[in-house]
Amino acid sequence: MKYSPVKILMVSFSLFLVGIVAIASAGTQYPNLANKKELVIKRGFTKEALSCIECHAKKMPGTVEAWKTGSMSHAGVSCYDCHMVEKSSPMASQCEGLKGTNTYISPMVSSKTCSRCHPQEVEQFLRSGHASLASSAVCDPKRAGLQKLMYQLEGCGFMDNANLDLSTGLTPREQPPYNRAPRASGCQMCHGTQVELGPDNKPINETWPGGVGTRYPDGSIGTCTVCHTRHKFSIADARKPEACAACHLGPDHPDIEIYYESKHGQQFLAHGDEWKFDSAPDTWEPGDYTAPTCAVCHMSGIGELSTTHSVNDRLKWDLMHKKSVIRSGERGDGEKGDKLMRKVCTNCHGKTHTDIQRITLDNAVELYNKQWAGAVKMKKELKEKGLLKKDPWKDGFQELEYYLWHHTGRRARQGAAMNAPDYAHWHGFFQMFQVYKDMEDIYNYRIKNNKIEELSTVMSSAPY
Ligand code: HEC
Ligand code: HEC
Ligand code: HEC
Ligand code: HEC
Ligand code: HEC
Ligand code: HEC
Ligand code: HEC
Ligand code: HEC
Repeated sequence: MKYSPVKILMVSFSLFLVGIVAIASAGTQYPNLANKKELVIKRGFTKEALSCIECHAKKMPGTVEAWKTGSMSHAGVSCYDCHMVEKSSPMASQCEGLKGTNTYISPMVSSKTCSRCHPQEVEQFLRSGHASLASSAVCDPKRAGLQKLMYQLEGCGFMDNANLDLSTGLTPREQPPYNRAPRASGCQMCHGTQVELGPDNKPINETWPGGVGTRYPDGSIGTCTVCHTRHKFSIADARKPEACAACHLGPDHPDIEIYYESKHGQQFLAHGDEWKFDSAPDTWEPGDYTAPTCAVCHMSGIGELSTTHSVNDRLKWDLMHKKSVIRSGERGDGEKGDKLMRKVCTNCHGKTHTDIQRITLDNAVELYNKQWAGAVKMKKELKEKGLLKKDPWKDGFQELEYYLWHHTGRRARQGAAMNAPDYAHWHGFFQMFQVYKDMEDIYNYRIKNNKIEELSTVMSSAPY
């Protein structure tokens, strides 16, 4: 809700109406408050809540100091409110200071806890790609190829000849030997995974702490602290591009690099320290900043748009998978997303400017899809002729195919979408055509000689 003069007039008018309704229903002691937001704030802490704070201030000062700087501590939300759980909770345990009492806590705190007081943010978050879709990439047994990548290849199961039979329905975890380090230090810290518990209800198997889509033992999903770093939980932090940079970076989705390289990022780098980041929810508008951060385009209220915690709401295309399609189903509503994203731009740009950017994005997608279709056609023929190796990671053609979509192709598409010429071109389209031509060479060799070349590998750092 924006505070335009027209809306203020409308609000005063509706208050006037409420007044009439209140008079009309005189006799009832209270006016109808059903539509009002209930925000009861009790200052001061209960004895129990104070005990957590006092002891932790000595034993864990870093945590308490961070919490003290946040607005929730000022509103009286304490350790007790977020960490206390019922004794019957699958996550219930007791810390050193609570042994012998009837109070149970958990170090794990999911979006469910926040939903008690922030139901709308959590509802939006849960329908976004940041929730169950994010962790499904890492722990869904149906996605066997990814499990194999994490355990057998990166976890070096292949060196011990561990035969990971992923078709049995057993999780690879139950089939040692393997090393969990790659997924625990990598994939999981961004995506999250299913948390597993030991007999004391504490997390085991390096499944916690985790990334944005973490799945908790009580069935709840999502870690809000990936953007609202604990224990300050600041709205200002989340509005800065750094909040997203922990995960949206690197060769396969260099969104922070793309941003810093765009005109918007230049403005942020040059003037960001003069911008105002702590405006109240839904009142953060151009003027507080002169160019958008990630949050402005993807999440924050701007102009007539309200804040959303669903990051797919304003997206048209799926720019991460092998073929880019207009979003639908669990990935959002692309037609609607297109309209919403245009509304973001027109707060600062004219229609001509915005239309051109959107056409360029559509063309970038079309160009990428064309190359991808060409690669798929070559691969199909090689497969029919038995000219693909079973292990794609030992087969130059298939390695290059992976880089075509997962690295160069994503960089081209996302660079074009977010206005970063160097990523769109040199790290993107330029490398895409090179990769494509190399694939063509391998394809032609195999078709001509009816055999796979002897040493077939392109790995190492190529093509970045
Ligand atoms: C607004 C809710 C909230 C409040 C208030 C809060 N926490 Fe947390 N705390 C969290 C969340 C969320 C996490 C991250 C949990 C996860 O990833 O599953 C966390 C994690 C933790 C952890 C485990 C992670 C670690 O670094 O070891 C500890 C310990 C902790 N909090 C202590 C405290 C203490 C002490 C206080 C009071 C000073 C407090 N918390 C107040 C929400 C809260
Ligand atoms: C008398 C001191 C004391 C009191 C009171 C106390 N704690 Fe703790 N707490 C500790 C210490 C010491 C640790 C670190 C050792 C451990 O994990 O048991 C800890 C650990 C924790 C952890 C992390 C547990 C884990 O498994 O990593 C959380 C969460 C926590 N306390 C929350 C609370 C809450 C909530 C309260 C109040 C209901 C509270 N504590 C009361 C001393 C205390
Ligand atoms: C017991 C109720 C309660 C719970 C539980 C709770 N919050 Fe809050 N939260 C509040 C209140 C009240 C405010 C408003 C404080 C203010 O504006 O002064 C707030 C404000 C916030 C803000 C805005 C902070 C800012 O800088 O203005 C964020 C972000 C937030 N909460 C995140 C969370 C997250 C994440 C969780 C779960 C880990 C959580 N909250 C759990 C009551 C709660
Ligand atoms: C802890 C890591 C992490 C952080 C921090 C993070 N993201 Fe993400 N984000 C992900 C992952 C993982 C995915 C892919 C989800 C999937 O598997 O579909 C993703 C997907 C997305 C998508 C595509 C959504 C979809 O449904 O396809 C957008 C847009 C996005 N993030 C924007 C942001 C913005 C903006 C921020 C910062 C305000 C941010 N993210 C912070 C991990 C993160
Ligand atoms: C640095 C953080 C990070 C790490 C580490 C990471 N990812 Fe991702 N992943 C992301 C982000 C961010 C996206 C969204 C990319 C986009 O929009 O282009 C993503 C997208 C994906 C997708 C496509 C979305 C989907 O749900 O289909 C899959 C699959 C995936 N990652 C699997 C993995 C696996 C498996 C690992 C470990 C082997 C891993 N990722 C490591 C951040 C990460
Ligand atoms: C991808 C990053 C990201 C994640 C994950 C995230 N938030 Fe936010 N959150 C933001 C941003 C950005 C804002 C500021 C929006 C604006 O400009 O008003 C915000 C604002 C808020 C606010 C202030 C009120 C409002 O709606 O603007 C609350 C409360 C809040 N978040 C709670 C949560 C809770 C609860 C979760 C977990 C379900 C969560 N956030 C997860 C980025 C995130
Ligand atoms: C000027 C507005 C703007 C800014 C700033 C911006 N983005 Fe984007 N972003 C877009 C647009 C436009 C798209 C493509 C949307 C579409 O498909 O219609 C996009 C696409 C994405 C995607 C691709 C989702 C997919 O389909 O794979 C991710 C992830 C993403 N942005 C994350 C970020 C992150 C992280 C930042 C900051 C580092 C950021 N964006 C900054 C406008 C922006
Ligand atoms: C908060 C204001 C704001 C928003 C919102 C915004 N931009 Fe910008 N944009 C700017 C500013 C300021 C510049 C720098 C203009 C200059 O070159 O002096 C800029 C520059 C650009 C440029 C570089 C070309 C040029 O005009 O110099 C492109 C491309 C661009 N924006 C696209 C977009 C798109 C697409 C969106 C919506 C997804 C968007 N912008 C949203 C403020 C904004």
